[in-house]
Amino acid sequence: MKKILVTGGAGYIGSHTLIELIKAGFKPIVYDNLSNSSPIALERVAKIACQKIDFIKGDVLDKALLAKTFSEHNFFAVIHFAGLKAVGESVDKPVTYYQNNVAGTLNLLEIMQQFNVKNFVFSSSATVYGDPAALPITEDMPRSTTNPYGQSKLMVEYILEDLAKADKDFSIISLRYFNPIGADVSGTIGEDPSDIPNNLMPYISQVAVGKLPKLSVFGDDYDTPDGTGVRDYIHVVDLAKGHVSALGYIERQNNPFGFEPINLGTGRGTSVLELVSAFVRTTGQAVPYVIAPRRAGDIAACYASSDKAKALLGWTAEFDIGRMCVDTWRWQSNNPNGYKA
Ligand code: NAD
Ligand code: WQD
Repeated sequence: MKKILVTGGAGYIGSHTLIELIKAGFKPIVYDNLSNSSPIALERVAKIACQKIDFIKGDVLDKALLAKTFSEHNFFAVIHFAGLKAVGESVDKPVTYYQNNVAGTLNLLEIMQQFNVKNFVFSSSATVYGDPAALPITEDMPRSTTNPYGQSKLMVEYILEDLAKADKDFSIISLRYFNPIGADVSGTIGEDPSDIPNNLMPYISQVAVGKLPKLSVFGDDYDTPDGTGVRDYIHVVDLAKGHVSALGYIERQNNPFGFEPINLGTGRGTSVLELVSAFVRTTGQAVPYVIAPRRAGDIAACYASSDKAKALLGWTAEFDIGRMCVDTWRWQSNNPNGYKA
């Protein structure tokens, strides 16, 4: 059974990916400092997957512990979710963000080279496309970012490209996620923001459950069909399966292939008001909202071309917006306070 080191595996996307890895016959080993997650998530994954999850409480900034971990396991690949992800916070704490996301990744790559583990799947983001010149977004479009979080993802991509050129044994897939939402069908694991949510879907679901009074729709004067921002929302379970497909691609290649960026999106755009009405329609919950000014740094529209993921990985997203809403609501209504009792 191939062992996969999953950094950040206790987090939102990581926890869902563990289930798919186990289903596909891999042996995940989680390495997470729990700075933005709960060990309860791993207990629940263990219940869903009917097996214990190997867990190392550790920081990717701790090189000695990383080296010890690699000396104790023979990893086939690393899936690197660990990192900080709040755009606004990254503007206030750039050093913390570059430290965790860039220096943390460098540590990991150094140890991987030392232990000759050369298959790497990186959590990148659609944020590396900045404000795209055309839609849908293809992987060869120019990259730019507007905040330290986005910069940290772009810097890591540059590092990975250089590494792949210098060390021909590496196979690196940079998965550029669009907007992950939804939750496992069990309703026992899901996204659990530690504070007031920044992102749209957790905000909607917290309004629906009565924790927040109303949603502010950030701008209705964009150049989009209804004036509100358009994004490519993707079910987190589809996203998780994309990681298994990436490992499958690595396994199928006879030779290391260097650096390959791949979008994980549905290829469909949904506006803020469309997402709100889909949520209301599918869950029967009220979501009061007001139109508010635009949020600084937001773009009008962003959605993926998913052609490359289909061609290379044989992967396409299956779940629609209605299913994303229903699964989010099941998690939120069963766990109004997330993993906190
Ligand atoms: P998350 O915060 O739920 O998960 C990240 C996990 O990494 C957490 O469990 C956290 O405790 C851990 N972590 C953070 N810093 C660490 C460190 N220094 N050492 C060890 N563990 C550490 O976030 P998520 O939504 O699951 O995102 C996973 C990855 O995907 C992140 O790299 C994020 O930037 C990227 N991403 C997320 C989104 C999104 O909208 N959720 C979109 C694009 C890309
Ligand atoms: C979606 C739409 C908002 C909240 C961010 C990061 C990006 C990536 C995903 C990690 C926009 C609108 C939102 C609210 C609203 N993360 N909105 N009211 O901005 O596409 O991307 O998360 O890589 O890097 O920037 O996602 O969910 O914040 O916003 O009207 O209370 O919802 O204006 O149009 P975004 P989001």
